[in-house]
Amino acid sequence: MSSDMQILSKFKIGDMELKNRIILAPLTRARGTPQDDPMDPASRVPNDTQALYYEQRASGGLILTEASAVSEEGYGWLNAAAIYTDDHVAGWKKVTDRVHAKDGKIFCQLWHMGRQAHSSYHPTTKRTVSASSEPMAGKVKTIDNGEADGEVPHALTVDEIKTTIADFVNGAEKSKAAGFDGVEIHAANGYLVDQFLQSKTNKRTDQYGGSKENRIRFLKEIVEAIIASGAYPASRIGFRISPNGAFGDMGSEDNVEMFTFVAKEMNQYNLAYLHIMDGLGFGYHGKCRPVTCADIRKNYDGAIMANVGLTKEISEGLVRSGACDLACFGRLYISNPDLPERFANDWPVADPAPYETWWAHTGEKGYTDWPVYEEPKEE
Ligand SMILES: Cc1cc2nc3c(=O)[nH]c(=O)nc-3n(C[C@H](O)[C@H](O)[C@H](O)COP(=O)(O)O)c2cc1C
Repeated sequence: MSSDMQILSKFKIGDMELKNRIILAPLTRARGTPQDDPMDPASRVPNDTQALYYEQRASGGLILTEASAVSEEGYGWLNAAAIYTDDHVAGWKKVTDRVHAKDGKIFCQLWHMGRQAHSSYHPTTKRTVSASSEPMAGKVKTIDNGEADGEVPHALTVDEIKTTIADFVNGAEKSKAAGFDGVEIHAANGYLVDQFLQSKTNKRTDQYGGSKENRIRFLKEIVEAIIASGAYPASRIGFRISPNGAFGDMGSEDNVEMFTFVAKEMNQYNLAYLHIMDGLGFGYHGKCRPVTCADIRKNYDGAIMANVGLTKEISEGLVRSGACDLACFGRLYISNPDLPERFANDWPVADPAPYETWWAHTGEKGYTDWPVYEEPKEE
């Protein structure tokens, strides 16, 4: 019997009740509608297939959307999502309506790719940006759906940092207009906010670099600006960190100190949750020991969401032990749209989605065609 499972129990975030603690991970699937001109903003507007994908997964306690760019400068992935124009709002509104009709809750993940975006996506500025001029080792995606070496990014000036914070606020306001229940600030996976947090990519000598206090300033100012805008109160704003991940050429020797500091410092806001990719199964940089949920718990009083490599048993153990409150599933939720029902009924789960299906531009294939569980028919 699974009915007494903790991950199936309700959870309150401020005034919002989640029907269970099983969370759909933010997953870029690049399923926007392809256009002849890849700069055509229509490719960034969520379509009906995307709405169906989220509706299929609405039995989880909370859906986190695929990363959604807050500005053109923050964008750099063909047919990925965005949330900075009224057209984006109209597309996302269809998604939130369908999720709410299924009694689901949904947060929009606010994204700026920083140095992981290629300048070919930015014909006006012809540049990519970051905390400092540290290029990413490895390949980035180009607008012609090819690859290029990571470029030397332009280090944002203080004025440009303020403009970028305003872009995050605009993303939050547009999310509100689109009917989202809240927003998650993407501060993980080597994107712009993470580039400010980590010593590997932040070589600034001004008030946004150097000390831990300075490197966290950008994240704090985004949070404070969203709250001040009135788009969402603190209880509807979460943030995601990946202190252990190598994705985006990341990993710094001082991540244990930095991210326990992040937990301690962000405590003051009473946010919806702190989302940590603590597992190592999405890449581990090996530069310092892994940061665990337990490290965060010691420094953070609010709700903690764990992620990477979770299974029913592992997540139940984590929640029961008190290490985390919420369990976030990525690859398993792609291939099991009815993941909570499968856990609740002790039904077997389908294998995680294979890599080829992750972000191939194949429309519904490998996206909305994963079946719900069916009892085997008796012969
Ligand atoms: C196809 C795919 C797309 C992803 N896109 C995002 C994203 O948009 N934002 C994000 O924060 N993480 C993204 N991730 C990371 C996942 O949210 C998650 O952390 C990762 O899959 C590990 O969790 P899992 O072991 O449950 O799959 C992506 C992962 C995959 C496999």
